[in-house]
Amino acid sequence: MLNVAILVSGGGTNLEAILLAKDRGELPDTNISYVVSNKRDAFALERAKKHNIKSLYIPNKNFEEELSNLLLENNIDLIVLAGFLKILSKEFVIKYPNKIINIHPSLIPSFCGKGYYGIKVHEEALKRGVKLTGATVHYVNEIPDGGKIILQKAVAVEDGDTPEILQKRVMESAEWKLLPSAIDLISKEKKCKA
Ligand code: GAR
Repeated sequence: MLNVAILVSGGGTNLEAILLAKDRGELPDTNISYVVSNKRDAFALERAKKHNIKSLYIPNKNFEEELSNLLLENNIDLIVLAGFLKILSKEFVIKYPNKIINIHPSLIPSFCGKGYYGIKVHEEALKRGVKLTGATVHYVNEIPDGGKIILQKAVAVEDGDTPEILQKRVMESAEWKLLPSAIDLISKEKKCKA
């Protein structure tokens, strides 16, 4: 089993997509061990509770230290950033090579890196006038949004799109499918190596 901790900061629709995929039996080799938030009022924490998944709020001040302890105590194999909007330090990231993945709401290398997160990504895509955008799941390294790409899916931009409309389309047709698929892929790789 791939033991996973999911890090969140906000609404948690990507978390919900993972938990629903698990409920449907689509992640047979994955165990969702913990949901951790750096925001006390993140709705994602409520979603975790509803699915009976252990959850924890860790303030930004002690975040990485407490998270490291939790990862060790719970034998976590993979850290999934699902709408986690804090940038992890270089010192933290280099301790977990190929053990952290992130979902980003654009086709990397477009509209990514420092300052590109959430709705801002879609605002910039619309400003630039791209006809295609999408989502990317990638490994996390010390460069923001710079790690090896695992999966990508393109989504069309349509006339009259607002950032909110585009965000919803990218989530529904790309993000909520890609992130569970990437986790399943990694769990199958672990199974093959065992
Ligand atoms: C998602 O669109 C996710 O891709 C994005 O934040 C949103 C969180 O929504 N993440 C980033 O921009 C990371 N750079 P959610 O809390 O409903 O999953």
